[in-house]
Formats: sequence, C-alpha cells, structure tokens
Amino acid sequence: MNKNKYYITTPIYYPSDKLHIGHTYCTVATDAMARYKRLQGYDVLFLTGTDEHGQKIEDKAKEAGVSPKQFVDNIVEGPRGVLDLWKLMNISNDRFIRTTDDYHVASVQKIFRKLYEQGDIYKGKYVGKYCKPCESFWTESQLVDGKCPDCGREVQNAEEDAYFFRLSKYADRIQDLLENTDFLEPRARVNEMVNNFIKPGLEDLCVSRTSFTWGVPVDFDPGHVVYVWVDALSNYITALGYDNDKYEDYDSFWPADVHFVGKEIVRFHSIIWPAILMALGLPLPKKVYGHGWLLLDGGKMSKSKGNVVDPYILAERFGVDALRFFLLRTFPFGSDGNFSNEALIQTINVDLANDLGNLVSRTTAMAEKYFGGTLPANQQTDEALDGGLTAMVSALRGKYEAAMERFQFQDALAEVFQVISRANKYIDENAPWALAKDMEQNGARLARVLYNLLETIRVCTVLLSPFIPSSCEQIFERIGACDACRSWESAAQWGSLSATVTVSKGANLFPRIDAEKELAELEALQAEAAKAALPALEIEPYAQEQVDFDTFCKSDFRAVKVKACEAVKKSAKLLKFTLDDGTGTDRQILSGIAMWYKPEELVGKTLVAIVNLPPRKMMGQESCGMLLSAVHNEHGEEKLNLLMVDDAIPAGAKLC
Ligand code: ME8
Repeated sequence: MNKNKYYITTPIYYPSDKLHIGHTYCTVATDAMARYKRLQGYDVLFLTGTDEHGQKIEDKAKEAGVSPKQFVDNIVEGPRGVLDLWKLMNISNDRFIRTTDDYHVASVQKIFRKLYEQGDIYKGKYVGKYCKPCESFWTESQLVDGKCPDCGREVQNAEEDAYFFRLSKYADRIQDLLENTDFLEPRARVNEMVNNFIKPGLEDLCVSRTSFTWGVPVDFDPGHVVYVWVDALSNYITALGYDNDKYEDYDSFWPADVHFVGKEIVRFHSIIWPAILMALGLPLPKKVYGHGWLLLDGGKMSKSKGNVVDPYILAERFGVDALRFFLLRTFPFGSDGNFSNEALIQTINVDLANDLGNLVSRTTAMAEKYFGGTLPANQQTDEALDGGLTAMVSALRGKYEAAMERFQFQDALAEVFQVISRANKYIDENAPWALAKDMEQNGARLARVLYNLLETIRVCTVLLSPFIPSSCEQIFERIGACDACRSWESAAQWGSLSATVTVSKGANLFPRIDAEKELAELEALQAEAAKAALPALEIEPYAQEQVDFDTFCKSDFRAVKVKACEAVKKSAKLLKFTLDDGTGTDRQILSGIAMWYKPEELVGKTLVAIVNLPPRKMMGQESCGMLLSAVHNEHGEEKLNLLMVDDAIPAGAKLC
C-alpha cells in the first residue's frame, strides 16, 4: 500500500554550545508529532540536524584553539553532544543533516548560483548593522534602542562588498501568504511579521559575507561565503536530495507538512524561506509553527546568561519519558512557559505516579490477586455503572486527534488524563475489593470491572505512546496487549483486548519523588553544572594606564614574618596579623582573606607587605600596610593566594 507522506522538521541547532532543555523541548515536540503520524499510518520523514557555519562558530573555535570543524564535531558527535542527547531522549528522527556535509555544501552552492544567474541575487555594497550572536543583519530602522531586536545585544557596523537577494520583490506575495492562508501559526505571529517586517518595507537581504571564511564558499566569487541563514534554511530541501544525489526523497516528501521553529526564528521561516522558494520556483511548506520559549526565572535560557538547564541531568534523574511528558504536558506549545524543577516533580508525582502509574498497578495487581492474572470469559456488564467510562473512552481518540492536529500537545494529554482520572474514580465506585469478598456471586461482575479498566488503560496507552514510548511499551506488555491492540485504529474500538487476557503487575512504573530531598539535590547539581560551564580560569584584565617608574619606586615592599594571626571579632572577612617587619617593633596589618585561610596555618610564614600606605582603621582596629596576594577566577569563583616567599629571606628585606 502506498502510504501518505508526512515531512516534519525541527530547526537545525547551532552547535556553538551544548544543547539545553529549550532545544530539547522543540525536538521532543517534533518527535511526538512524528510518532503520532506514524501511529496514524503515515510514511513519516522527521529531519533534524545542526547548523554549523558562521562567524560565531569560527570565533568560538579560535577561542578553543581548534579548527571550526573540530569544534563542531566535538559538540555534535562528542560525548554528551547533540547526537548523544537525541539518542538519550529517544528521538526517532529519520535523518540528521549537518550543514558541513559535502552534499549540502554543494547543493547550497548550486542554489546560490541559480539565484544569481536568474537575477534574484545581485552584487552590491552592504552598509548596516550585524548582530554576531544571532548572525543577523539589521537595518538601522529595525534596531530597538540601537540594539538587536531579537536578543537585545549590541550590534556592529558592517560595510563590505556583498551579494543581495531581491527579497523586496516578493513582499506582496509573502504578505498575501501570511494574511490569507494558514501558512503561519499561531495566528498572533502573523500580525507580528506583517506589522514589524513587511509593512515598514521589506529590503533586499544581504546574503554573502567576506569578513570571515567559515561558511559555504560562493563558488563563482572567491572570498565570499553564503549568509548562514540561506545555508541553514536550504537544509530542509537538500536533506531530501534537492540538487544532490545523496537522497531521492525530494519528489515524494516536499513540500514539508510542517516546520516547527522557535518564535524568534519565525521571521526567517515565514518571510525569507518562502521568498527563496518562490525565487527557485518550488512549492512552499504547508505550515510553519512558531512555538514559545521555555523561560527560566522569566527570561530566555541562554548559555551567555548562564541560566541553562541541562537535559542530561534531568533525564538521568527522573527518566527520559518523565521529562518528555513534562515538557509537553505542562506548556502550551504556542506560548512561553516557565520551567521549574518544582513543576517537573509535581507533574511526575501527580500525573505519572498517582494517576497513570496507580491505575496500571492497581488494575494489574487486582487481576493477579483475584484471577491469578487471567480474566475469566464469564463477565457481567452493568450499563449504569460502566456507561460513563466506556463513553468517555470511545470519544477520546477524536478529541485527542483534534488537539494533535492543532499541535496542542497539552490539550491532547489533558484529554487522556481526564479519562485516566475517571478510571481511577471508576475503581472506587465499583469497589472491586468488596466484590471479591463473594466471588461466586460477584466474580463475573468483578471480571468485567477489571476488563473495562484494562481497555481504558489500553486506549490511553495507544494515545500516550507518541509522548512516552518506552513506558507505553511496558504498559502494553503488562496488560497483555496484542499488536493489533496497540494500533491507531484500535484506539477507537472498544473491546479490542481479548476478554480472557493475561496480565502481569511488574515493578512500579513511575516511582513517587520525595520533592524536598530531590529539589535540594537538584539545586546542588545544577549549581555545580552551571559553575563548570563558566570559564575554568579567568584573570583580571591588565591595567590600561601606565605608571611612571618614579611613582612605582615610591612603593615600599618588604618581606614580613607572621608572628601571630587571629580572626577579627564580628568580621567574616578580616584576619589580624602581628608581623615582624625587621624594625624590632611589631607591625599590625588587617587583611580580608578569612574566606581562604585559617589563621593558624599562616603563623611562621614569610609574606610580602607594602608598608608605606597610610594607616587605616577597619572594624575599629588599625592596619598599617597591606599584604600582597594573587587573585583569579576559577569556574566563576574568586580564588586568592597570599604571596609567600622563601623563608630564607629575612624580615624587613626590601623587594625591588
Ligand atoms: O536558531 N525554549 O539555532 P539555535 C524554547 N540554527 N525553544 C528554544 C529555547 C528555549 N529556551 N532556546 C532555543 C537556530 N530554542 C538556527 C536554526 S533553522 C534553518 C536554523 C529553540 O540552536 C529556538 O527557538 O539557536 C530554535 O527554534 C531552536 O531552539 C534552535 O536554536
């Protein structure tokens, strides 16, 4: 049978840093959608990948002392890199594209040349602003308070020979596409695009750079590399084999059914990408869906702000399915949502442990306890008691499907969990433990109650399988679901499970989490990870101002020996030193180093002091001079080492 095709994509990620939970969110959503479509019987192609060119990567590689390719290879293929993360998260992508793949590079060159030869790309001079972190060009009028309108950071002046794409030529067609079709969703994003970008006038887009080399070379003009967004957007067709021999899926899978993208890159996908496709004379994707951001403390997660959440830590602690479930159950896909560990634990405890986990374990445990695991054929329906539950289950697939088709994962899951709650209530209403007291009288009724519960679990499990695939496999095994009972069709057929099914209880699927203990541990782990993400070693910037030699020579540095040292009362920082400075009279110096040294470990040491500073009072005590120390930052933490010199140096020796 020739199956219907379904092509779905995630954005391709910048491997400039390790991926965080925000990236994971979009990929998990795409995965759930792809699995749902496969469940429905579509021949799905799910594409993800990495967008590896651009100045930011070139700069980062230089900083790390490696080539750009080595740099991206490490983040993509290295330990705990992009590929590892998608494997861990059980992402079922059919293809993974890297924009450094040869076939992609060659296709992008052909696309660029084609657009140039037909006059959609022309050579000119670029004068404008460039946001390096976003790799975006802006005109003066697009800036917000002189800063990048996307990320709010400083932009740089840019002027160079460049190629331009005639974006302006497509403005009317794009406005029509956005306003008069369902191309872009949610609808609110349409107004944003039309009012902020199209109505003020679409300018031609600068599509080549000469100030760096890490990109796809323009093959007919050495020195120019293709603008990273033209390179990146083309991935959606090059990965199908457009203009290359690597794949042969273009004709069957293009146009894409949907591109899932974060809201800040909707502009590229709903204006620039359709314009490029129009210029190439290719069909447009059927839909672009701009999802919201996962926020942390009200702001977007970003490595440069140091507020990222590591998906590895969460998946390893709570399980992959629990994390996948949380992301799609908690946040409406089209809007922003606030990530928190508390919300994650709460969702796991309430939905997975209490509702779903309990329903499965209570039902299977009762089937084992009362019937040795296999239900008898003799079962007795009670319409008055069963009708409510069976009607709800029968209506479930339709409601779920409606939500999924709108990419409202949260709503689809809410429908399933309403049924799960209803089923838990059904257990209490029918009190199987009371029926079990008289098996002769009530055995047939008890069997039917358990069968109804198993059928409810089965239908819910089919519909949950795109979200929590491994757990659903386990549930299917436990309730004895045959292959046909796991299908999309069977989710709309009450009674698919054999009446005399055999079940097994198994271990707890979703253990309850001790929230308080877990939160404390997580906080410590995440703080540790955040610290490790900061630069290993940072030294103070060097002074810009010069000091003339005579001024420097006025400072009197002496070797001093510590005779006594004690903490200053009521001060967390200060230590009081009694020092032999060679004059025969003790010198007292106070120093704010209590965080790094215990007083007793310093007695007897030979230190360096500057001794001709005017005396000053600290915490009511006089300090005559200053001890020298070395300071630096390690993983964001300030470190200090007192300058200690050879004990052979006598007290009072002048340092010069
Ligand atoms: O934009 N919450 O790559 P990228 C939700 N290479 N989504 C988030 C997020 C968050 N906190 N942080 C990032 C790029 N994302 C380009 C794409 S496509 C041809 C080229 C999402 O790695 C972000 O919105 O910076 C975007 O959709 C995706 O992660 C990739 O971001």
